[in-house]
Amino acid sequence: MKLELLSSADYEFLSSIVDEWWGNRPVRHLLQRLFLEHFGSSSYKLVEGDAIVAFLVGFRSQSQPQIAYVHFVGVHPEWRKQGLARQLYLRFFSQMTALGCTECQSITSPLNRTSIAFHTGMGFELLAGDGEVDGIPVHLHHAGEGQHRVVFRKPLD
Ligand SMILES: CC(C)(COP(=O)(O)OP(=O)(O)OC[C@H]1O[C@@H](n2cnc3c(N)ncnc32)[C@H](O)[C@@H]1OP(=O)(O)O)[C@@H](O)C(=O)NCCC(=O)NCCS
Repeated sequence: MKLELLSSADYEFLSSIVDEWWGNRPVRHLLQRLFLEHFGSSSYKLVEGDAIVAFLVGFRSQSQPQIAYVHFVGVHPEWRKQGLARQLYLRFFSQMTALGCTECQSITSPLNRTSIAFHTGMGFELLAGDGEVDGIPVHLHHAGEGQHRVVFRKPLD
């Protein structure tokens, strides 16, 4: 399996599969071409043969350069629980640490229990917010009215 940078050329494929990989949740609108055009140097894919089986879209914050941010991470349903997302995160952490970042952040929906389990398993903490959903701390209306989000944080070595 090859680890490569993402580029704009990957947009059509990723846009066509993200909703399915996210359990038929409508997330396609969150993965815009601009992320691949402008953050391709810190975004990765794992390729088996000619097929993308996992990807991560991340970048260094421009306004808070000590923070690295992961916008998307997804693994083909048939390739899950084999350490692929961990591999992508570790590559990203390594690149961001070399740039001087001291922490990584990400967000997810409180309904996405797999994402919460994954991030917890990767050593992220859930930041206290201003509300709770089913006992999970959330930042209320973080992504718009009624769109509460879990905010993750992990210090980088
Ligand atoms: C979340 C996701 C990216 C995890 O990918 P993955 O390659 O299966 O994860 P890994 O195998 O690298 O797992 C790393 C750790 O996360 C945890 N983990 C991953 N999936 C888990 C699950 N379904 N339940 C519980 N813990 C889980 C484990 O601690 C695991 O470590 P371990 O294997 O040593 O036990 C994948 O399930 C996915 O693509 N989901 C749909 C998209 C999504 O929700 N993305 C995240 C929000 S942006």
